[in-house]
Amino acid sequence: MKPFVLAIDGPAGAGKSVTARAVAKHLGIRHVDSGAMYRAVAWLAVRAKTPLDDEAALLALIRRTKLEATPEGLTADGEPLEAHIRSVQAGDAASRVAVHAGVRAALVRVQRTMAAPPGIVMEGRDIGTVVFPRADLKIFLTASVEARARRRHQDAIARGETIDVAATEALIRERDRRDEERAASPLRPAPDAIPLDTTELTLEAQVDLATHWARLAQAGPGRMTAFFRFGHDFVLWFARLFLKFRVEGTDHLPRAGPLIVACNHISFWDPPLVGAVIPRNAYFVAKAELFQNRLFGAILSGYNSIPIQRGAAARRGLRGAEDILAAGGAVVIFPEGTRSKTGAFLPPKSGIARLAAQTRSPVVPARITGSRQIRRSMLRQGEVRIVFGSPMMPPTGDAGGREGERAYARRIMAEIGAL
Ligand code: DC
Repeated sequence: MKPFVLAIDGPAGAGKSVTARAVAKHLGIRHVDSGAMYRAVAWLAVRAKTPLDDEAALLALIRRTKLEATPEGLTADGEPLEAHIRSVQAGDAASRVAVHAGVRAALVRVQRTMAAPPGIVMEGRDIGTVVFPRADLKIFLTASVEARARRRHQDAIARGETIDVAATEALIRERDRRDEERAASPLRPAPDAIPLDTTELTLEAQVDLATHWARLAQAGPGRMTAFFRFGHDFVLWFARLFLKFRVEGTDHLPRAGPLIVACNHISFWDPPLVGAVIPRNAYFVAKAELFQNRLFGAILSGYNSIPIQRGAAARRGLRGAEDILAAGGAVVIFPEGTRSKTGAFLPPKSGIARLAAQTRSPVVPARITGSRQIRRSMLRQGEVRIVFGSPMMPPTGDAGGREGERAYARRIMAEIGAL
């Protein structure tokens, strides 16, 4: 059995540890804090009076020490470290140790051996990018610097340390800079990481959201029917053989868990073409009128299409999409609601924002161009291009009511426009 791997990355103080620990507990799988390993190496080095910039000495230290992740925290040759490695200073020292490529390679090797069935939640800075680039689910936790400094400061006070908020904030900014600018595996989101901004969220809400995504991702992405797989592969081969066809950014698509792909719409060809390049089972919403012809309706249904009523009934029509997303599936939606005859973007309908908020699904923006001139493309005169962008976090809370929904839908179109 392949272990389920959830990668949680993000800067200091975004809430990775509490979130990762809680999600692991809900899922009944192991939790590993990779930052603790960098902290441990740094603390052991300081104790042994090893300079933190002496990579060879640090590597020798790692080689002669047995680091183990126990339920009570990390141990070095059996000695518990938890009580020593949590201070703000230990974190600062850890980020100095973490700039060395050799140190990172040694610790990454240990981290990879820790993924065992049924699964693991690993938190850090490079889990989704370097340690487990094929993780089933990747979450990138963020929060404003001020919010992170406030939280870290509260932790420090609770531990009895005396440090003020301003000093904590300065240390956090300095660590962000060092973590982001280092040459070896700098802190950055994996292309397919779902951003989770916790600035405005309660701890409970952020754990709940991450657990929701993880549960659905753990259930798997859902299998394609034979008919859909045939159509999917056929369209892909057709496009590759006969069109001047360019696809970019498929690495932005989360492998599992609920997903809305939001694409602009300019041609009848868009759904099959976009569907063909998404490497997982995906559903489409299509106008109910298209299903009136029995044969064509049957083909559409077989091809993962969900009928949607327009106008007043549209709300009800999205229920089919809701069901797919609630089961952890992927749905392709055209937020403009109809095909643009000119190719220029139409104002988006806000239904997509409501759907994302209700089902708590991340949205990946996608842009298609050239599909209105398929024949020109067949003559290699025009290119059909599909580009995917970075995942967007779904609206949370009440999402600002109707106006908030409209704003989120406009943001999606702006992201599509920028691709
Ligand atoms: O998450 P933390 O605060 O315990 O991490 C301490 C330092 O360790 C952090 O500033 C950068 C480094 N680190 C890293 O480079 N890669 C990881 N996967 C985890 C932590």
